[in-house]
Amino acid sequence: MTVTSVALAAYVIAGLLFVLSLAGLSAQESARRGTVLGMLGMGLAVVATIALALDRSERPWPVTAGLILLVLVVGAAVGSWRARRVEMTQMPELIALLHSFVGLSAVLVGYASFLAEPVGPAGADTVHRVEVFLGVLIGAVTFTGSVVAFGKLSGRLPSAPLTLPGRHALNLLALVASAGLLVWFVAADDTGTAVLPLVLMTVVALALGWHLVAAIGGGDMPVVVSMLNSYSGWAAAAAGFTLGNDLLIITGALVGASGAILSYLMCKAMNRSFWSVVLGGFGAGAAGGPSGGGTAEAGEVHETSPDEVAALLTAARSVVVVPGYGMAVAKAQHPVADLAERLRARGVTVRFGVHPVAGRLPGHMNVLLAEARVPYDVVLEMDEVNPDLPGTDVVLVIGANDTVNPAAQDDPTSPIAGMPVIEAWKARDVVVFKRSLATGYAGVQNPLFFRENTRMLFGDAREQVDKIVQAL
Ligand code: TAP
Repeated sequence: MTVTSVALAAYVIAGLLFVLSLAGLSAQESARRGTVLGMLGMGLAVVATIALALDRSERPWPVTAGLILLVLVVGAAVGSWRARRVEMTQMPELIALLHSFVGLSAVLVGYASFLAEPVGPAGADTVHRVEVFLGVLIGAVTFTGSVVAFGKLSGRLPSAPLTLPGRHALNLLALVASAGLLVWFVAADDTGTAVLPLVLMTVVALALGWHLVAAIGGGDMPVVVSMLNSYSGWAAAAAGFTLGNDLLIITGALVGASGAILSYLMCKAMNRSFWSVVLGGFGAGAAGGPSGGGTAEAGEVHETSPDEVAALLTAARSVVVVPGYGMAVAKAQHPVADLAERLRARGVTVRFGVHPVAGRLPGHMNVLLAEARVPYDVVLEMDEVNPDLPGTDVVLVIGANDTVNPAAQDDPTSPIAGMPVIEAWKARDVVVFKRSLATGYAGVQNPLFFRENTRMLFGDAREQVDKIVQAL
């Protein structure tokens, strides 16, 4: 048995573990198992790759055990330091930064592979050249796109969309130019002539990635990060072809496909077409967006107090909590879980209704509720909770806004018309926790606040929930 055959067997097992990991991550109950399987798969893949690298004598660059150990120690130290320090709200920007590394490595792998093997006469190695070209192209777009996404999400770059005149034509031009450069690259007769189209394409692709993401508003960044996740997967798969590494092809394809599916599901849950997000500009016009205004206030609001809410809850038999982005901002998940626990101890049925795009990244609310040790079986999805709302006594809307907006169903002119929402207004009483009448992410006014059965509890969600717990 050679090192190569053992390593290839390990690759197959690692590939299977990655598939099982993804399957596990699709439900909360199995997510922990999915993470562990993914870690095992990655551990196995790293060990097998190191064994292969040390074994292969024909490698074009010197790989020693000491060098690998050094890289591993530095990477693990930086990774665990960042993972410990990062706040939940900073997760999207960290992921964007990590995607930029995948993009950059795909570019470097492409160049290394191109420079290591002398280019033969045109036509002799066309497939290899196309692999190198596509790997560098996707990698470069992913790299600068992810850097811009990181900059926007972390506030280092302005989050408003950059709308250059003729921007769609510019993107198209970049793609057409890249196609022309590919033809030139494939037709070149030696490394000296082939390097020029490769370098030119890299510059074009870096500019394209930058421009594509700069044109997208900060609020759409979660979809963009998921899209870049998908690109980074395809870049890794392309690098896998270049390096002849089957596992990289498998993992790249898994990441590429799952990122694309996630982007699609997020767009569907926001009732936006994928192309309207990718082609950008949302939030620049008057119609809406994070910086947009909102329609005028409609009617009178009924304000309430923590004591009144405590009395309402004491008399209730069924309560549904609908969390949103404001719960994350206020870090109110622990007091909210505490409140739910106390009500349950008094015999009240308490459940949570989570909208698929509540918060600012997929699963945002589920992670916060899990962190606060809310049992999974009381955390329901929108489609599960909606039919129960007409029979519910009290709905507590904690820092959610767009995801409970009845205008999505009632007003065909609303920017969020058609977006599926949690029908909180169908409950007997609704209490909305927020600091003001300000709009949410989509920038549209919410008629729920002015409904007869709605009470507004103004103030920071965490402080208000604490006061209710005390009053109880
Ligand atoms: P939003 O509609 O953004 O509303 C959040 C509300 O929380 C705001 O109206 C804000 O009102 C309130 N808030 C902020 N800080 C607060 C605090 N400390 N205490 C109490 N309230 C506070 O949130 P949502 O309902 O979760 O909807 C999510 C939105 O993001 C949707 O429009 C969705 O399409 C969009 N989006 C989500 C994703 C994903 S994957 N989750 C991706 C892209 C876009 P005040 O300022 O008055 O307090």
